[in-house]
Amino acid sequence: MKYFFVPGRNYDLSKAELQSVISSNIKSNFNFEFKPRYILLTSSEGPEVIARLFNRLGGFISCGLVYDDIDLVIDEQKDKNKVTFGISVHTDTPRKYPKAKIKEVLDQIKDAFKSRDISSRYIIPKALLLETAQIIHNDVLEKGFELVIFDFDSRIFYGKTLAVQDINQFSMLEYDKPYTDKEMGVLPAKLATIMVNLLGLPVGSTVWDPFCGSGTIPLVSLINGYNVLGSDISADAVEGTKKNIEWLASSNKLNNVGFNIFVYDVLNPDNRVVRDLRKTSIQGIACEPFMGPPQFKPLAPYKAEKLLANVEALYSNLFEVLEKIRLTEFKAVIVVPSYKTFNGWMTVSLNKILSKKWRIDSNLIEKDLHWKRSDSIIKRNIFVVSKKN
Ligand SMILES: C[S@@+](CC[C@H](N)C(=O)[O-])C[C@H]1O[C@@H](n2cnc3c(N)ncnc32)[C@H](O)[C@@H]1O
Repeated sequence: MKYFFVPGRNYDLSKAELQSVISSNIKSNFNFEFKPRYILLTSSEGPEVIARLFNRLGGFISCGLVYDDIDLVIDEQKDKNKVTFGISVHTDTPRKYPKAKIKEVLDQIKDAFKSRDISSRYIIPKALLLETAQIIHNDVLEKGFELVIFDFDSRIFYGKTLAVQDINQFSMLEYDKPYTDKEMGVLPAKLATIMVNLLGLPVGSTVWDPFCGSGTIPLVSLINGYNVLGSDISADAVEGTKKNIEWLASSNKLNNVGFNIFVYDVLNPDNRVVRDLRKTSIQGIACEPFMGPPQFKPLAPYKAEKLLANVEALYSNLFEVLEKIRLTEFKAVIVVPSYKTFNGWMTVSLNKILSKKWRIDSNLIEKDLHWKRSDSIIKRNIFVVSKKN
């Protein structure tokens, strides 16, 4: 079967996330075709499996099944009395799809249902694409379908959406949790999910965030079935993360996962904690260090240098501790910031952070994985590193 995936804003990051999740969860053969605006996956796995894996992702807007013929999508609804449906068009030639043309296709589908005595209602996209909120609020996927037309390089094919991003859950994680510390910086929940997915770990593994702050990485890890260790130099952050986990557990079913959140200063590691960590089975680290307060205009270069020196110190110490913990099979997904300064962008080289015992994942070496809004002053570069054997 062939599936389509529509990535979010940071294509390379989404692509790496999907490769990691699919290759660590699907054991049968599969094949990807990477296009600039969508990704196709050929796999013998059924739609339920693919939709379930999609629901773990942070970097994708929707996924669905590819169809050769629109009629097949309509035929599938034959046992329903009432159908809600909509259309989205992904294309490099939007002028081929004026609103009137989309409405014409929607009316034709409505007529096809009428001729089969099925009553139907359609949702008109505001532009070419139905918004995720429109799909969710109108129960389009439960009560009918979203037909997706892909028209690129004069090649047209169709799809039916299987699942859309759970925007309500992401927004809840971002805005509704009881504890947050904006001055320290909060990781976007979608990026935290992508980072944890880049670890490519089996469900039930243990993930450690040594700079947990308000606990975004612990929260998304627990949701996706991982055990969590979270630590921070700040006792307030540790209490806040615990509160946020309790809040999550009260509204979300967390299955067979455990957590331990504790105070720990990466720059002055307490040897007792290091000894305790040695007894745990951490398989991965995902974290974002302290990167300074929120920035609204380009920085003076000396300020960026100071912030980067702090990031370098935090990571060099962290990786030294990781060597002391003597982990074997082990991966880390880390954020390294770049700052926009009066003299251009400044960052810190990974060589300064990592000893020779660590290497960047070979399939990601040349990739520029980052998360950034067009106007932001801080760019988050994402690196996936593992320990050399
Ligand atoms: C950018 S915040 C992490 C944000 C977190 N990912 C979230 O989404 O809320 C960085 C955190 O690093 C912590 N931190 C700073 N210096 C530290 C140190 N030496 N050891 C451990 N944590 C430290 C800060 O207290 C802060 O909570």
